[in-house]
Amino acid sequence: MTRPKLLIDCDPGHDDAVALLFGARHFDLVGVTTTHGNSSLANSTRNALALLELGGIDVPLAEGFAQPLVGATVDAAHVHGKSGLDGHDLPPPTRKPIDAHAVDFIIESARRHQGELILAVIGPQTNVAVALKREPKLRTWLREITVMGGSAAGGNVTPAAEFNIYCDPEAAAVVFGCGVPIRMVGLDVTRRTGFDDADIARLRASGRRVAGVIADLVSFYLARQRAVFARAVASMHDVCALVPYVDEALLETDGAIVRVECAGIHTRGATVCDVRGARHLTVPPVRLAVRSDARRLIDQVIDTLLNYP
Ligand code: BDR
Ligand code: CA
Repeated sequence: MTRPKLLIDCDPGHDDAVALLFGARHFDLVGVTTTHGNSSLANSTRNALALLELGGIDVPLAEGFAQPLVGATVDAAHVHGKSGLDGHDLPPPTRKPIDAHAVDFIIESARRHQGELILAVIGPQTNVAVALKREPKLRTWLREITVMGGSAAGGNVTPAAEFNIYCDPEAAAVVFGCGVPIRMVGLDVTRRTGFDDADIARLRASGRRVAGVIADLVSFYLARQRAVFARAVASMHDVCALVPYVDEALLETDGAIVRVECAGIHTRGATVCDVRGARHLTVPPVRLAVRSDARRLIDQVIDTLLNYP
């Protein structure tokens, strides 16, 4: 069976790291683009390159925007540490980003793989929004956009907003309104879908290099998730946007019309998800993830990580 073509737009990030390694094993990964988000753009790019080297993944990486469309950058150092990927000091990457902006790389990849490319957006959506504005045909070239972002019920960075959307709500509004089929995997399923102490122990006990590095990284991240959100698991938000292409049964979805709140005082960055089944609206509904088979999903992710040397 041919593997689906995938481009990952990310801000690694502990859960981005797991998503990159998972994506490279299950998809035909055509490249990676980086964005501001969990940490500075420079940190995102360095971390992404270091992770690609860790996994022996030889794909182009294009750097994107350091700032949102409007307003100041927000980061998540309280969750991912100062480097964006605290917990294990990966060797500095030997490779560099390609000499093209993420926006141009996204457009060119979609043009080359028309009708086939899945774009996974697992950080703030600035690069994708600008690409959609720059090349109006992009919306017809993409097969689908899969988003880790948003929530139908409550946020993480504020009571109303999920981090990726909050970092650039104007960009997210462009993406959710673009007309490309969208799969939205938000906090409703991702915050409960994560690694626990036993999962980390399993990775470590394997004695494999990649699994050991991920165990170190996730230990740090789990401690922060406990301290900041009182969570029992280290939420693997980002990989949840990829797993349905490998096993559709791992996530249950519902049709929803999704609007992004750009104006609210207390609700800026919230995703307003209309699941009433309204038939009068002309925009195609988003496939909103509403439930995950968390245990099976995480086991599938761990099996994949254990496949690395
Ligand atoms: C999202 O925000 C980031 O901190 C994670 O990498 C994930 O993409 C979860 O809200
Ligand atoms: Ca992310």
